[in-house]
Amino acid sequence: MRSHAEVGRGGHPCRNSGTLTESAHATIFHMKKTIPLIVGNWKCNPVTELHAVALAVAVVKAHQKAETPYVAIAPTALHSAAVAKKLTSSPITLAAQNVSSFAVGAHTGEQSAAQLKDGGVELVIIGHSERRAAGETDVEVSAKVQATLAGKLIPIVCIGEKKRDTNGNFFTEVETQIRSFATELAPAQLKKVVIAYEPIWAIGTGETATNDDVKEMQLFIESILTKIHDRPTAQSVRLLYGGSVKPHNAAELHRVGGMGGFLVGGASLKAADFSAICKAVI
Ligand code: PGA
Repeated sequence: MRSHAEVGRGGHPCRNSGTLTESAHATIFHMKKTIPLIVGNWKCNPVTELHAVALAVAVVKAHQKAETPYVAIAPTALHSAAVAKKLTSSPITLAAQNVSSFAVGAHTGEQSAAQLKDGGVELVIIGHSERRAAGETDVEVSAKVQATLAGKLIPIVCIGEKKRDTNGNFFTEVETQIRSFATELAPAQLKKVVIAYEPIWAIGTGETATNDDVKEMQLFIESILTKIHDRPTAQSVRLLYGGSVKPHNAAELHRVGGMGGFLVGGASLKAADFSAICKAVI
C-alpha cells in the first residue's frame, strides 16, 4: 500500500514490520481534498478468502498507475489480512467496515483501531446504515469516531435519511446525525474526518439521489459544519456520496453533486464496474 501523498509521485510503500509508520499516517491525514476518493465497501462479500483475494488482485490490476482518484477497498475483517498482502506496492488503501470504540481489553468480538492499524488499515467506515439498522446509535458512532482518530486512522462517518419527505424533515435527520459526532470534535479533528452521505433509500436499491439533490446535501452538510465550527473547517472536510453509484451515473453525480468522491457498495464487487466508476471521476 502506498500512502496517499505518495500517489502520483512514485513513492514507495512506507511500512515498518507490517505496520504503517507515523509519517505515512501523517501524509494520509493530509491527502488532497481536490483529488476524489473512491471507497469500495464489500460488506459481507464474497464468501471465500479465495474470491476476496481474486477481487483484490483484479482491482489492483485495474489501478496500477499511481494516479487519481485515491482508491480504497474495505473487505470483511476476516479477509483483511489476505487482501492487505495483495495491496502491497499498489496505490490502493485498505479500509475496514467497522471498529471498536474500545482501545484494548475484554471486549469479545471487537477489533480496536490499533489492531486495524497494525493490520495495515488506514480508513474506517463508521455508522453505516446497515450497522445503524442493527442497533448502532449516534452515541456509539461518535465514540467510534473518537477511537478511530485516537488510533490515527481516518473515519468515514456514514449519515443519511431513511426516506425523503416533501417537507424537508430529512434535513433534520441528517443534521442530528452530523451534530452527534461533529460537536464532540475540535476543528483540527473534524478536518481529518470523511463524511459519507448515503440516503438509506438509495443503498442497494438502484435508486440514486438526483445530481441536484446531492449538490443540495453537500451545501447543507457544509452549512451545518460551519455552524458547529467555522467555514474553513467545514470546507476542508471531505464529503462522499453513496447509494447505488454505478458506472453509468458516476460521472454526472460527481460533476454536479460536488462531493469529494463515492462510497460504493454493490458495484465495488465487480472490478470492471468499480474501475469504471473510478475513471468516471477523473
Ligand atoms: P450500494 O451501497 O452502492 O450497493 O448502494 C452503498 C453502501 O452501502 O455503501
